[in-house]
Amino acid sequence: MDWEEKYRRREVFWNKGEPSLPMRQYLGRHPVRGRALVPGCGHGHEVALAVEHGLDATGLDIAPTGIAEARALYPKIAERFVVGDLFDPPAAMRGAFDVVLEHTCMSGLPPRLRPAYRRGIDLTLRPGGLLVGVWYINPDLDPGEEGPPFPFRVPDLTALFADGYEIVADYVPDVAFQGREGRERMRVLRRKA
Ligand SMILES: C[S@@+](CC[C@H](N)C(=O)[O-])C[C@H]1O[C@@H](n2cnc3c(N)ncnc32)[C@H](O)[C@@H]1O
Repeated sequence: MDWEEKYRRREVFWNKGEPSLPMRQYLGRHPVRGRALVPGCGHGHEVALAVEHGLDATGLDIAPTGIAEARALYPKIAERFVVGDLFDPPAAMRGAFDVVLEHTCMSGLPPRLRPAYRRGIDLTLRPGGLLVGVWYINPDLDPGEEGPPFPFRVPDLTALFADGYEIVADYVPDVAFQGREGRERMRVLRRKA
């Protein structure tokens, strides 16, 4: 997937133009604090949401046009958006985050890149830190749909973080964007110290 090309062509079909509803609900109910990373932040809605909830948030995305558009959309927090690769994060981001907020970064990746995603989380999240995920489980692809998003089932999620993480919250959210109802899983994992 050439993400930069998708942004340049304005084919950002994943972009809902506002922050994830389950993420908003979770952050409204739980006192999550500290430095937060939003990997694959795209237009940055979850970064803005995190700042709104008192987090010192940074958005990271591999697509320069996506980051430029995030900065234009959220000029007051423009310096919080960084171009970079989660799989090889900038030195300043290594071990630097208390929280990682996942929203449709993982589901955009083909399955062969899932170990690299996990490694990227390990490189950026400090031991004891929280991985707060709205995981797009997408159990059924629509007819003719190949992905992204790629099917990512709950056992896949469990297996990916079985080692080194513990589950601290896990449920099907009761709020969702239209078309994503029942297709997302809220799972919060703590990296073992
Ligand atoms: C499906 S989009 C989701 C964007 C945003 N989270 C949203 O919900 O609108 C996936 C995003 O991950 C970014 N991405 C893909 N691989 C990446 C990597 N290795 N490092 C950082 N960002 C990456 C893409 O550029 C894209 O913006």
